[in-house]
Amino acid sequence: MISVAIDGPAGAGKSTIARKLAAKIGAIYIDSGSMYRALTYKALCNQVSLDDEDALVSLLKNSQIVLEQNLEGQQIFLDGKNVTEEIRSPVISQHVSAVARHPKVREIMVQLQREYAKENSVVMDGRDIGTVVLPHADVKIFLTASVEERAERRYKELLHKGYQPIISEILSDIKERDRLDIERETSPLKKAEDAIEIDATHLTIDQVVEKVYQLCSKDNH
Ligand code: DC
Repeated sequence: MISVAIDGPAGAGKSTIARKLAAKIGAIYIDSGSMYRALTYKALCNQVSLDDEDALVSLLKNSQIVLEQNLEGQQIFLDGKNVTEEIRSPVISQHVSAVARHPKVREIMVQLQREYAKENSVVMDGRDIGTVVLPHADVKIFLTASVEERAERRYKELLHKGYQPIISEILSDIKERDRLDIERETSPLKKAEDAIEIDATHLTIDQVVEKVYQLCSKDNH
């Protein structure tokens, strides 16, 4: 069994890299951000205030969030409904940091995330995987890229999905999300001391996957 933690700011390519790496090493891919997104989606649908930590906790306790792997990658089910597409919308991206900042919400999410890693080889991506969720992960990566490069990638991704994105808005959204993720009190985005930093600004996805793959092969798990 092997566990790989990939943390870093929004849009650095964590999810694509984690998915490809998981397929290559025969591990399951866990996108931890999708769980915070699913709760945000449910809170917005139910008009639960994103400032109300207790209400969010109770909503989460009454929710079933299940991650499944299929040929199209990770699918996320919320109370039995496939919400994989819905949770990627710009509205959710704008609000998810407000949900993820609550310590009691994070506590429950962390438990759920650890469950997946107990019995499976995993590649898990997020913000606090190497620092909090899997502090003993075999390989820890901190993946970064310039904010302009990250905005450009998100722009292309949204365009591809049929949205009509505006690059300046994406840039300011990403900057704001970085700020909220870095400045929050509980489990802020930060590099674990023993994580290896990879700057992906001038690297292709496959080059990054190969680099991490080499690190996994070196590891004596
Ligand atoms: O990776 P993403 O963009 O889907 O993450 C969505 C949000 O959830 C992001 O604002 C940070 C937060 N998040 C977190 O706080 N901890 C994680 N392990 C994963 C995501």
